[in-house]
Amino acid sequence: MRKKIVAGNWKMNKTPKEALALIEELKPLVKDADSDVVFCVPAIDIIPAVEATKGTNIAIGAQNMYFEDNGAFTGEISAPMLKDAGVQYVILGHSERRQYFNETDEAVNKKVKKAFEYDLIPIVCVGETLQQREQGITIDWVRMQVKKAFMDVNKEDAVKVIVAYEPIWAIGTGKTATVEQADEVCNAIRKCLFELYGEEAAYSIRIQYGGSVNGKNAAELFSKPDIDGGLVGGASLKADFASIVNWDK
Ligand code: PGA
Repeated sequence: MRKKIVAGNWKMNKTPKEALALIEELKPLVKDADSDVVFCVPAIDIIPAVEATKGTNIAIGAQNMYFEDNGAFTGEISAPMLKDAGVQYVILGHSERRQYFNETDEAVNKKVKKAFEYDLIPIVCVGETLQQREQGITIDWVRMQVKKAFMDVNKEDAVKVIVAYEPIWAIGTGKTATVEQADEVCNAIRKCLFELYGEEAAYSIRIQYGGSVNGKNAAELFSKPDIDGGLVGGASLKADFASIVNWDK
């Protein structure tokens, strides 16, 4: 049985002081969650966030990293830096990084492999644009993104990856995919993983849905057998995030 995982993606929000205030507010509200709870915070908030969540059920994640260990890559953060800071998860290939910062499938794949070298768990984001959905190529597109992200990743590592299916048209728009749409694509992703790694691995890998998840729709989405939780943007910035984390209560 896969354990659900609910991750907040704070994006470029919250100064270190604001981050601490939100963490303190949320700590007691999420402490009895049945799901794994992750806060993916801006890089500058990582160190105080790790400190503030020590001894709690909240794990800290990063929102990106580079695929080299160190060197002349101004502005980047490496896997060993994240590891040393106490980070456990890292979002890779978020659509905003693909769209605004030219992140390619090849770069995502290199980052996935680098994350495993340092024992970080990648949350790999995939998802189609509205145009792709309207053209009827959603499943083909997402399968390709999954296959490229997992290229040369062995089964032992693959089972640890979290895949986040995030239709781009549903991110930050208030338009949630219908439960049927979300479930259909999450199911297709699992089939694709089955082809790559076999049944046992495919049924171990957790697949989240992301895109305008909120306290009202979380329970319906997360109750689907192939949806193992959510990656939550806007709604993770408020105390209301607790109602998503506690979707089953
Ligand atoms: P949203 O963002 O919940 O604000 O739609 C989700 C995401 O981008 O991870």
